[in-house]
Amino acid sequence: MWDSVAGAWERNADSVDAQLTHATGVMLDAARLAGGDGVLDIACGAGSAGIAAAERVGASGRVVLADDAPMMVEAAARRSAGLPQVGTLVCDLASIDAPDASFDAVLCRHGLMFAEDHGAAVAEARRVLRPGGGYVAMTWDSRAANPWLGLLMDAVGEQFGVPFPPPGIPGPFALDDPDRLADVLRAGGLDDVDVTRIATPMRTASVDTWWELVPQLAGPVAIALAGMEEDVRDAIRARALGYAAEAARATGDGIEMDGSVLVASGQRTAA
Ligand SMILES: C[S@@+](CC[C@H](N)C(=O)[O-])C[C@H]1O[C@@H](n2cnc3c(N)ncnc32)[C@H](O)[C@@H]1O
Repeated sequence: MWDSVAGAWERNADSVDAQLTHATGVMLDAARLAGGDGVLDIACGAGSAGIAAAERVGASGRVVLADDAPMMVEAAARRSAGLPQVGTLVCDLASIDAPDASFDAVLCRHGLMFAEDHGAAVAEARRVLRPGGGYVAMTWDSRAANPWLGLLMDAVGEQFGVPFPPPGIPGPFALDDPDRLADVLRAGGLDDVDVTRIATPMRTASVDTWWELVPQLAGPVAIALAGMEEDVRDAIRARALGYAAEAARATGDGIEMDGSVLVASGQRTAA
């Protein structure tokens, strides 16, 4: 699924990152990165979190950008081509192709919620962390706190009279509860667990620009829209633009919709 939207993630990485600049900084602070550290960015997509980490660990550090979608990894490799300390890897977050205790930090920005077994995915990340190393995951806060994305899913679901994504398919809001997210990190064997909520408003030039950007990035939505008849897609677009107009506030040079993420961190304290 994610391979099919890798091109859109690569083309629009700057827009994605603009919404997440502050939250990603908080994530990197929580990982307590130091010069020379080894960092794994798992479920890296086009690689932005790991590329930001590469600046912090410097030329003597090492960053691995890993994702189970090969085309995402290719995009991440192209975007990090000027950074000799960055390498790439195709692997699943439930089965990381790296030795035990081989990283100082593991980052996972908007990937953990897509794991089939969240606790097992954290335990696998813990395995590759050295004792004393830190794990930091970013997940989306609730659908209500993220109309910029939630209303798109509402518009698709209402077209067919069923929730979208369908029950059983892990969606972007699968880890939207701070207490549950903290429990997932503890279940994976991490200590000193902390969860912080950070506002990530989505800013674009107009609601039309929002429609041009967001549906092509949201993997399940992009695939669903691509397979629809044009009139169905048009009906969803009209409904989504109506919702977006209600949710959007005017800024000086465009519009803004609410957004919010959770940043969860924990340490591997035991050997
Ligand atoms: C919403 S994107 C986030 C990409 C990137 N981390 C970012 O924040 O820009 C989700 C990413 O998780 C990856 N992903 C989903 N399930 C995965 C799995 N089981 N193992 C590894 N990566 C996975 C997808 O391929 C996709 O690149």
